[in-house]
Amino acid sequence: MADETIKNDEVNRRQFFMKLGLGSLSIAAAGTAAFSYQYLEPNVLFEPSPVVNAGKPDRYPLDSVTLDVNSGIYIVHSQEGYFSLSAVCTHLGCLTAWKPELNMIACPCHGSKFEQSGKKIEGPAPKPLPWKRIWLNDDGDLLVDRSTDVQAQARDSFVRV
Ligand code: FES
Repeated sequence: MADETIKNDEVNRRQFFMKLGLGSLSIAAAGTAAFSYQYLEPNVLFEPSPVVNAGKPDRYPLDSVTLDVNSGIYIVHSQEGYFSLSAVCTHLGCLTAWKPELNMIACPCHGSKFEQSGKKIEGPAPKPLPWKRIWLNDDGDLLVDRSTDVQAQARDSFVRV
């Protein structure tokens, strides 16, 4: 009787350790699966689209320069049509501002100045403000692709309405 109790205890102890081992293996396998999934998952940053909807052309009066702070572009409505410039200074990347009283775009960081066409007037900026691709979509909205530079003053760099 005492022997049988000891045997039952041993079986129970053996079963306990078997279950403990299986449980540990299961937890380790789950952890490995979780880390493997994280490792294999693409590590991608989702950036906003470079294309900006600037709205209807009639938002921009003739001879106006309008800064869109959120997207870092200007929409210029000139006699030749609508065009878009980057508002990011070509020196060290500060956001420029349109100064209507001076009729120029000025950088607050180191004093570069640009014409409304983006051409550099003075300052440390090495290049003019780049023109961006602009076009009208089917709804009649102005779209600007911030990732695509176009030739300044080129005929197809303007939108004419
Ligand atoms: S960042 Fe504009 S002048 Fe330096």
